[in-house]
Amino acid sequence: MPTVPFLGTTISAMALKISVIGTGYLGATHAACISSLGFEVVGIDTDAAKIAALQNGKVPFFEPDLEELLSAEIASGRLTFSTSFDDLRDADVHFICVGTPQVKDGLAADMTYVNGALEAIAPLIKAGSLVVGKSTVPVGTAARLRARLLEINPDVDLAWNPEFLREGFAVDDTLHPNRLVVGVTNDRAENILKEVYAKNLAEQTPWVRADLPTSELVKVAANSFLATKISFINAMAEICEAAGGDVTVLAKAIGYDPRIGSRFLQAGIGFGGGCLPKDIRAFMARAEELGARQALEFLREIDSINLRARARVIDLVRRDLSEDLMGKKVAILGAAFKPDSDDVRDSPALDIAVQIHAAGADVVVHDPKATHPAKQRFPALTFTEDIDECLREAEIVLHLTEWKIYRELDPSVIKGLVKRPILIDGRNMLDRSKWQAAGWHVRALGRADTN
Ligand code: UDX
Repeated sequence: MPTVPFLGTTISAMALKISVIGTGYLGATHAACISSLGFEVVGIDTDAAKIAALQNGKVPFFEPDLEELLSAEIASGRLTFSTSFDDLRDADVHFICVGTPQVKDGLAADMTYVNGALEAIAPLIKAGSLVVGKSTVPVGTAARLRARLLEINPDVDLAWNPEFLREGFAVDDTLHPNRLVVGVTNDRAENILKEVYAKNLAEQTPWVRADLPTSELVKVAANSFLATKISFINAMAEICEAAGGDVTVLAKAIGYDPRIGSRFLQAGIGFGGGCLPKDIRAFMARAEELGARQALEFLREIDSINLRARARVIDLVRRDLSEDLMGKKVAILGAAFKPDSDDVRDSPALDIAVQIHAAGADVVVHDPKATHPAKQRFPALTFTEDIDECLREAEIVLHLTEWKIYRELDPSVIKGLVKRPILIDGRNMLDRSKWQAAGWHVRALGRADTN
């Protein structure tokens, strides 16, 4: 069994006890995955309902494979959940996984939960333990928190270890990340993290040791790059529309260049979710605080291009249906910000649905997983889990989240349900020629009309 120097002594690595503070998408997945590596893990959250669900092996959101893993880990006895910070006193490593949403009155990240977590655990954790931040935070946070932690409890340490998991692939991304980044101030902290991630190291997962600020920046830089790639192709979509080109062919062609790569070049209604939009905004806000506003000015444009894609879909609806949308039945396929997720935070699909509803249309939204969270956010909208009901008598159909079930629809069958066979493919994922052959008028972002 590998060993790790711990407080001058050595203890068995598998005897390391782990706590995970915050059990949302990131924390619940991290807790279950770390437990599956053989560690004893306690997940802590102040939300009693969430903890009660997790204790019963129920994941309070949809994430493929997570519920099975969670149940197995609880059954193994290694994984427990609690609302009491007292239950983390015994742990050697404490992962902070709480959210950093956008503040209500600006672009910056709301640090209330991260600060609160640190203050709550600092006086409780035992000498020699390591606090590891995983939340996405403004650069400079880790150093500030480390100083505060040592002020309260001088015998402990803090490191940063950003998480890159994608919703829909959270378990696989956590168990098999494409890199591990650790921000540390000393070898001991790095060695403890090497023990936690020993299995990944054995699998040759690239390991990047960085200082605290660089480790925080890696996360926001990566998300900014991804957002830029998506907005780049959506800008090309606007040009293709103006020039009569086809952005899907353009993306395929430039993607063959390995320096560009074909991933994240799917043109459509753009990026949403709990990360990309708020992360680029918080990054801009932080750059301004640091006196480096100009360096990230381009992200403002990335954000604008992204929001413009939503507006362009609504323009298409008005062009193909009618300027006046009052009373028109609009069927919307998709509410989640992306498929295989029930997350509707900053969902482009839902934003478009809300705007069309506000214009007076009779909007019916279908989603296989996200109708419940979507309804909680926008109770005035009509939702259904029955696709036929969504499509019946529709005057236009909008494909806005690329769930597999929508690609499996038979356009000639559903043509019999709708009032007018007009489709807007907001994700450029449906087989246009098949829909056209079945008699549909198909419109898409970045592709000239062909019927
Ligand atoms: C993202 C990052 O990928 C992940 O590394 C980070 O840890 C958290 O943020 P996630 O929010 O789960 O993950 O979603 P992602 O798969 O990146 O998609 C983000 C948005 O971009 C979705 O709304 C998706 O529909 C959109 N998108 C993605 C496009 O519009 N086009 C693309 O080509 C790819």
